[in-house]
Amino acid sequence: MGIHTPVQPPHQVSSNDQTALDLADFSDLGEAISDQLDHDAQSSPDDVGALLSAHLAEIKHISTASKVPNCAYERRIVYIDTEGRFTILCLIWAPGACTPIHGHAAWGVVGVKSGSISNISYCKNHDDDGSTTLSPTCITVAKPGTVVAVSADPDCIHALHNHTGDAAVSIHIYGMDLSQDQYAINIVHGPEPYQH
Ligand SMILES: [Fe+2]
Repeated sequence: MGIHTPVQPPHQVSSNDQTALDLADFSDLGEAISDQLDHDAQSSPDDVGALLSAHLAEIKHISTASKVPNCAYERRIVYIDTEGRFTILCLIWAPGACTPIHGHAAWGVVGVKSGSISNISYCKNHDDDGSTTLSPTCITVAKPGTVVAVSADPDCIHALHNHTGDAAVSIHIYGMDLSQDQYAINIVHGPEPYQH
């Protein structure tokens, strides 16, 4: 499959101890989502997004002073539902960091805690020679406090990019248990192993 993409290959680093965050900050959010799903197992990503919006300001102890190299990002699992219904991750983005192009195997909610993250959407092109290519269709920019819900659609194809010269922090909630493989949420639409 050919790929048309304006972004660079990913340069991702594993979670490490250089980023200061307090897992307790995520307990209230995680428990609120668990309660929501207990009440209504069919809750929508928008319902979960509303809870993230309400709790985003409570998450305070995230430092962006870690030594994440330029164009790389660090990701940490910060909460896993005891019933495996969802996982919360915190991503620390260095300037220029970008994910591979991907879709999701389950619903997701993303909130920007600090900095600015852009989302690049793609469409599929079915070419005459039988190949499939991807073309960017639009770019939206999310500022602190923005929360976006993503459906469980592998063909909702996108990439995230810290297009700024400053670090950024985002909170991601995905509707599956990622304790064994935090990348299991992602379906890659590019030549690189998925690492977002
Ligand atoms: Fe994504």
